[in-house]
Amino acid sequence: MRDFKSILHSIYNEAISQTDKGKVATYIPELAKIDIDNFGIYLKTMTGENYGVGDFNIPFSIQSISKVLALGKAMELIGESVFKRVDVEPSGHPFNQLALLEVENGIPRNPFINSGAIVIADILISNLKNPKTDFLNYVRDLCGDKNINYNIAVAKSEKDTGFKNFAAANLLKSFKNLDNDVEEVLDFYFHQCSIEMTCSQLSNVFYFLANDGYCINKKLHLSNSQVKRINALMLTCGFYDEAGEFAFEVGLPGKSGVGGGIVALLPDHFIITTWSPGLNKKGNSLLGMKALEQFTTKTNLSIF
Ligand code: DON
Repeated sequence: MRDFKSILHSIYNEAISQTDKGKVATYIPELAKIDIDNFGIYLKTMTGENYGVGDFNIPFSIQSISKVLALGKAMELIGESVFKRVDVEPSGHPFNQLALLEVENGIPRNPFINSGAIVIADILISNLKNPKTDFLNYVRDLCGDKNINYNIAVAKSEKDTGFKNFAAANLLKSFKNLDNDVEEVLDFYFHQCSIEMTCSQLSNVFYFLANDGYCINKKLHLSNSQVKRINALMLTCGFYDEAGEFAFEVGLPGKSGVGGGIVALLPDHFIITTWSPGLNKKGNSLLGMKALEQFTTKTNLSIF
């Protein structure tokens, strides 16, 4: 038996003693207010073990981690046709880069770069009756916890400064890959990204991707093959132009957000979430990535 508790504690102690914690995202002004010293980890195993260390119970902005949940809902609603409008290849570029989108005629490289996630948001708006309410309820259902909400101030802050996302949405519209109004799609997208969760809530929400599509309350959301697709996309595209590095160092499907969260999982074994708001140059949590590298190294648990 692995002693997860002491492994997590040693990773935590090493992480909080680091002097270089990266830099908190400032391009969404509301996120700049977060204390860089927060650090939490939460591990949930499929055999029913749960371990939290540090700030695992403080809600934070999940940002791009929400893109995985949006993709899951879109696949639940319209299945494979999602991939007529968004490709499944790593972009090798930052999450907000637009050059490829122009060259590739408005088909985003994957659902996790911003342009791809904006297309997914458009699909959700077209297929949900009350998009913002229905999406939030979906996320709450996934973990059986009603205490999950949008942070309206964060959504507004991004709306006021998200010029590049407006450019992406307009470019998509010009290529006829956006059915709804730019304003409406981005309003949904900014809210989706503003959802706040704790490390423990996130580990519970992602349970279905480690459990053949069955969420924590045993409800089936996705087929085996859909779960395989989403985990493959997390492995190849979840960290943008650092996806190779994450696979190389950590060896798990995972997804980061500029709020400093990372969720990673080993199907049939565990889900682990880290939160450290300081980001590296590629926009991924600096200490979160280091902690996960330590975790898979010390436990010898990864997909490879
Ligand atoms: O659209 C944006 O720029 C943000 N709402 C989300 C970006 C993000 O989290 C990138 N991930 N590391």
